[in-house]
Amino acid sequence: MSLDDVLSRIDADLSDATDRLIDLLRIPSISTDPAFAQDCDRAADWLVTELSGMGVDVSKRPTPGHPMVVGHAGSGGPHLLFYGHYDVQPVDPLDLWDRDPFDPVIEETPKGRVIRGRGSSDDKGQLMTFVEALRAWKAIKGDWPCRITFFFEGEEESGSPSLVPFMKENVEELKSDIALICDTGLFESKTPAIVTMLRGLLGEELTITAPDKDLHSGMYGGIAMNPIRVLSRIIAALHDDTGRITVPGFYDGVPELSDELEAQWQGLAFDHATFLGDVDLSEPAGEQGRTPLEMIWSRPTCDVNGIWGGYNGDGFKTVLPAMAHAKISFRLVGTQDPLAIRESFRAMVQAALPVDCTVTFQGHGASAASGADTTGAMFEQARAALSAEWGVPAAYVGCGGSIPIAGHFQQITGTEPMLVGFGKDDDAIHSPNEKYDLESFHKGIRSWARILDAVS
Ligand code: BES
Ligand code: ZN
Repeated sequence: MSLDDVLSRIDADLSDATDRLIDLLRIPSISTDPAFAQDCDRAADWLVTELSGMGVDVSKRPTPGHPMVVGHAGSGGPHLLFYGHYDVQPVDPLDLWDRDPFDPVIEETPKGRVIRGRGSSDDKGQLMTFVEALRAWKAIKGDWPCRITFFFEGEEESGSPSLVPFMKENVEELKSDIALICDTGLFESKTPAIVTMLRGLLGEELTITAPDKDLHSGMYGGIAMNPIRVLSRIIAALHDDTGRITVPGFYDGVPELSDELEAQWQGLAFDHATFLGDVDLSEPAGEQGRTPLEMIWSRPTCDVNGIWGGYNGDGFKTVLPAMAHAKISFRLVGTQDPLAIRESFRAMVQAALPVDCTVTFQGHGASAASGADTTGAMFEQARAALSAEWGVPAAYVGCGGSIPIAGHFQQITGTEPMLVGFGKDDDAIHSPNEKYDLESFHKGIRSWARILDAVS
């Protein structure tokens, strides 16, 4: 039985594979919200049942947070580890969804058929691409292509608090020749891509307090310190007029693009007008003097992700608030040190506080940027396999998002990560009406079958 037989099997099984994905998408495994802890557990159970049905020696492994799913199958050849995450982002704002986020359907759209639902692209649909590829392989060939480890996480969207301890405790079990991570996208929604660099992420939440209670702004306005005004000034000062971030020492470890990467990225001819136009924007708003691809792949950023305080209800209230809050994240590149930046950011905020104000901080995850060493033979084998499936040469690209486990594989198990995914820019990951194209799902499954054939 040949690769073509496996590919035909995948084609014939697509409708059943889609039904299975829809089943998984019905489980609201929102990892960040404790109210959905049981659902995370159910999603892990679902994967255990699915994999054991395929003959994988698999179990749900408890952690202080949501469980991991670890499975082993096959022997001989290279040892491949597959990583994906079964948890999803919260769905709010719910009123912007056109349907129940956890009642997925196949929808006809002008651009083709899509599977609509939370987690369809990030990351349940992607995770299932390699499960389905292996299912077809096993069904047709009667055996596994080589030694395979499945490693599925349920806390990726909430900062992976249990991941590093779990990897350290199970380091021997999780060692492999390569870690295949399916949690990224195609380049410009049409070119298959292997991600060679990911940004790191530092999250900070701060609360500035001034008066000891909310006050009447008629009685106290003018004489009393307003913490929202203080917070606004601090936030406004985080960028200078050229878009550079002003936290002292922030740019330590930020490399300039190598000539080789610059040439590679120029060859990609990224169409930033379309990229921005698709979300109703027109002008790149990052650091002056940087190209659009640099802005999203190789430059660090600072974004305010949330800001609140005072009265936000309907109507109006002349309140002088006691507190002001913000959630701020930094995307990191090169060898920027998340903990040093956290310290410097906190010191900068402290130094900017006027008298009578206090600040408290809560850290939310700190991971450094990572890059893949693409010199191993499997990278070119995978690239050829992807090019064959998609009919265009696969590209080596950057990714502005963060997948902290890529760096953990290098540091803890000594494994090189290979990041291949099939998401499209308009999948609306983390947003209302998330979808995954049926084409991504179908050709994603076929891509893994080709990659398995090429590397095993
Ligand atoms: N799948 C994404 C990473 C991603 C983002 C890939 C954008 C391609 C484009 C991943 O699940 C994710 O969202 N990661 C979080 C980090 C995490 C620590 C919360 C992110 O990048 O914000
Ligand atoms: Zn995500």
